[in-house]
Amino acid sequence: MTFLQLIDQAPHQTPHKTLEIDSAQGGPLTGTITVPGDKSISHRSLMLGAIAHGTTRIKGLLLGEDPRSTAACFSAMGAKISDLEDEWVTVDGIGGSLQEPDDVLDAGNSGTTLRLMLGLLAAQPGKFFAVTGDGSLRSRPMKRVIAPLTQMGATIAGKADNTLAPLGIQGQQLRPFHYHSPIASAQVKSCLLLAGLSVKGDTTVTEPSLSRDHSERMLKAFGAKLSIDAATHSVTLHGPAQLTGQTVIVPGDISSAAFWLVAAAITPGSDLLIENVGINPTRTGVLDALKAMNADITLENERDVTGEPVADLRVRHSQLQGCHIGGDLIPRLIDEVPILAVAALFAEGTTTITDAAELRVKESDRLAVMAAALTQLGGSVIEQSEGMEITGMGQRAQLKAATLDSYTDHRIAMALAIAATRATGKTSIHRAEAAAVSYPTFVATLETAAAPAS
Ligand code: S3P
Repeated sequence: MTFLQLIDQAPHQTPHKTLEIDSAQGGPLTGTITVPGDKSISHRSLMLGAIAHGTTRIKGLLLGEDPRSTAACFSAMGAKISDLEDEWVTVDGIGGSLQEPDDVLDAGNSGTTLRLMLGLLAAQPGKFFAVTGDGSLRSRPMKRVIAPLTQMGATIAGKADNTLAPLGIQGQQLRPFHYHSPIASAQVKSCLLLAGLSVKGDTTVTEPSLSRDHSERMLKAFGAKLSIDAATHSVTLHGPAQLTGQTVIVPGDISSAAFWLVAAAITPGSDLLIENVGINPTRTGVLDALKAMNADITLENERDVTGEPVADLRVRHSQLQGCHIGGDLIPRLIDEVPILAVAALFAEGTTTITDAAELRVKESDRLAVMAAALTQLGGSVIEQSEGMEITGMGQRAQLKAATLDSYTDHRIAMALAIAATRATGKTSIHRAEAAAVSYPTFVATLETAAAPAS
């Protein structure tokens, strides 16, 4: 038996892959690794590049399925995007209005593609667009962007009383607007700011707490005028704005690094260096949570790369303690809750996750799916309406092997793979190919970082 193998399966309509992990063949995580480019920054660099005047050059673009969906949509609307495999991807922007596409735009599995793009499409007077996505995306709530866009003057129709994709958009000249968002969501905020680019006047978004600010940083770098009121979590885009192509160097994705931070923290003997990781403060909630759990993580070589802070992260094994993860911390680690739940299994004491209802409308219902999967692995997990409570088993925790499913959710597939490295026997994770949405090389890195040298 090898440490892990990916097996092709076709029992369902769509072929899928099962990842089998035999923990007995695994070892501590050591050495130096890098993680692929940040997903949020990759999407934004393609989108802003596509609508800007001139050429945008992007290095380190994530080659996951989600940014590929963004690139395909904007190519269909006139942007000239070079081969995504190139070291430097170039985007020749249309520098004005998007072309009406010949066909339906497909955002695949990507909520960021669909929601951010909607802001741009709604603001193209006289043009029609139809957008859709895969089964998961077509079940995710779109009212959160359709409602405020409609208040700006947008005409958008969709399934289920205009709340779900597929959506039809008849572009309009939009009006200035101040939106008080009930949720801290960078997708909602970014959608409205992008819509505001062609508004004559101010578009302001106020959030209950600060969500990731990559859009604000990149819009400023591309030449838009923005005012930020940190005290009220408000951002104003002063429109109309003309963007100019820039150079973007995409840092490694802290949401991808999180899997290795937790894997090394819970595996005795681990000492791992993860190079070139984005440490934007709106994204580092996972570091704060793990440090509160007594993880041994240090930041080295801190620097600034095209407007985003970056560092190398060193993580060593340590005995974790339970903690509370909730409140304003949640938007800063929203995508890391599944892997933090795995960390909590190995902590001494109880970990409570609260204020995380948003997890129910991600690529899957992450609270339900994680609670069920960790219970199957022998964990003691109580699912709550807006979070979960996990009774840690401490350092000597021994999970038991199980047959699990990703529910086609990339972050679930990867979080369960890390849990499987600490489960006695052979764990199978069905539909593990979902990892490629944000981390196409995840399985290869797991094999090299966690399998003992032969
Ligand atoms: C993202 C924002 C977050 C996050 C998603 C990427 C972005 O979603 O979960 O993976 O790039 O803006 P919400 O804004 O809906 O919380």
